[in-house]
Amino acid sequence: MSFSDRLVERLARADRVAVLTGAGISAESGVPTFRDPGGLWQKFKPEELANVEAFLRNPELVQGWYAHRGEIIRSVAPNPGHYALAELEQAKRHFHLATQNVDGLHLQAGSQNVAELHGNLRRIYCIDCETPASEHDLAVIEKGETARCMSCGGLLRPDVVWFGEMLPHDAYAEAYLAARQADVYLSVGTSGAVYPAAGLPIEAKRNGAYVAEINIQPSEIAFQLDETVLGQSGEVLPALLQAILGF
Ligand code: OAD
Repeated sequence: MSFSDRLVERLARADRVAVLTGAGISAESGVPTFRDPGGLWQKFKPEELANVEAFLRNPELVQGWYAHRGEIIRSVAPNPGHYALAELEQAKRHFHLATQNVDGLHLQAGSQNVAELHGNLRRIYCIDCETPASEHDLAVIEKGETARCMSCGGLLRPDVVWFGEMLPHDAYAEAYLAARQADVYLSVGTSGAVYPAAGLPIEAKRNGAYVAEINIQPSEIAFQLDETVLGQSGEVLPALLQAILGF
């Protein structure tokens, strides 16, 4: 696999590297994406599943859908793309990884400085008293019953960001700062369709970073970035890592 000299040189020399990932990086692990053919939003309607009104209207349906996605996530493992980013972090003095994914696979692969912009599906909590739920409560959801808080009886929800909700403040603030300070910014496996996350690579570019995206097709924001490396992230990222380590 060959890369542009500019990308290899800039990434090899970079002191500060920041990365944004989306569903595409986990596709090779077997986690469905949202907008690709056959993706989640082609089969399901976000307005029926991914907002608080839908949850209050039909908690069992929404809990069941997230429990199903939780089952998928617990059955998969990080792929070479996740591991390459964890290694890249070790090779750099300053490294930040912002992910829109709720699967926890970056942390599982060993990445440390990670901001989960859209939360984490493995955590659930009570909408009334905010107590985190236990494994037992999770098992109830998996049996298809309405899962309720053991302490107060409130409804349990996944700790993910739904449409109309704010991103976790600290996670977004650190991702934004890392984008502004980056020498090189990588946008990996994201359609660039959902803001504010999609604005991060653009913000990095505006502040002087060299910004490359890695995707099987150009994203919606590709024209605003420096280059698109076409390919599967599980192949491109390990090859890119080798290229810069040998620079
Ligand atoms: P999308 O499903 O919108 O986009 C996935 C991107 O990954 C597409 O651009 C694909 O071309 C690319 N892709 C697929 N397989 C790939 C591979 N093996 N290697 C590299 N790229 C690949 O997913 P996101 O951009 O993550 O939000 O979507 C953003 C947000 O929209 C999600 O976090 C979710 C969704 O609604 C919430 O639920 C709040």
